[in-house]
Amino acid sequence: MSEPWHSCISGELKMVEELMMHDLESENPELTEMCQYVISSGGKRLRPALCIMSYGAVGGEDMDKPIKVGAAFEIIHSATLIHDDINDQGEIRRGRKTLHKEYTISKAIIAGDYMFAMGFRLLAAEAPQIVDYIVEASASMGAGEFVQKDFEHAASVREEDYIRIITGKTAKLFEAASKSGVAVANADSAMLEALGNYSFYIGLAFQIVDDTLDVTGDPHSTGKAVGTDLIEGKPTLPVIYAMEDPVHGPRLVELFEKPYVTVDDVHEALELIRATDAVDRCLGRAEEFVDQAVGYLDQVPESVYKTALLDLAHYIVSRDR
Ligand code: IPE
Ligand code: IPE
Ligand code: MG
Ligand code: MG
Repeated sequence: MSEPWHSCISGELKMVEELMMHDLESENPELTEMCQYVISSGGKRLRPALCIMSYGAVGGEDMDKPIKVGAAFEIIHSATLIHDDINDQGEIRRGRKTLHKEYTISKAIIAGDYMFAMGFRLLAAEAPQIVDYIVEASASMGAGEFVQKDFEHAASVREEDYIRIITGKTAKLFEAASKSGVAVANADSAMLEALGNYSFYIGLAFQIVDDTLDVTGDPHSTGKAVGTDLIEGKPTLPVIYAMEDPVHGPRLVELFEKPYVTVDDVHEALELIRATDAVDRCLGRAEEFVDQAVGYLDQVPESVYKTALLDLAHYIVSRDR
């Protein structure tokens, strides 16, 4: 791949940035500063990209629409990360101090709520007919996070439980971003289904890779710390697979079930997972989901946007950030 996957929409993504910065200005200078701190820290902008590329792939011509809808998705996604970092006690995000570390937990909670509201407002103003998509996806996210809570430190967790968790917390929002792009282009239900399914399976693969990067990632590339999921006892696929290992599994089960882990425990757990084939198995599973996703693009006509969606599918499994 000579060009990055997003090169055909780089102008649109720049407009998403400008719109978000402008939209999050408020009467309170500190609140404005906090929202802009989060937005200006970057991020891969996958959800707006999916919205814009899906819109283009079904022949949409007025890019202003998916830019606004995509910006709304990114604002809502960023709000979930603010709250996620409070819950996960994350200190670094997108290579910067997390919002609650830079300001305070109580202000970060409010800024996250504010961004949720602003994201919904932007979406409802631009495309009231698709508010349901984002509402359903946000509700699924909450439900997925709760299932995840139920399985914290629970070695009984199975792969199907994990798939249920990541369906709710990640894949549904990816699906909704694409479907929203297709819907604002007024394309038919076959395209809605095809591109929605493509993004759903990309989303599953994406979260699996995120969870492997928590084991093998380089914080300079990912912009976040390694081992955070282990500290929280999160039931991720690398842990599930590594616990099945006949040699290293039993000790990992012991560590995973400990309600409070030390820094040494986390290092040991990371070494144990790395000593198994868990990461390779996870990447294999992610590739299967990517293949499934790409299959849905067969029904989509050829265009630069479809090519970009194919490139994005391959980026998802090869990424290091
Ligand atoms: C982080 O999402 C949360 C997950 C679903 C893994 P991203 O990895 O898309 O975060 P940014 O927006 O690029 O920082
Ligand atoms: C994604 O899970 C959280 C949301 C979907 C809000 P993670 O907890 O793995 O995300 P990171 O790794 O902190 O970005
Ligand atoms: Mg987290
Ligand atoms: Mg993660």
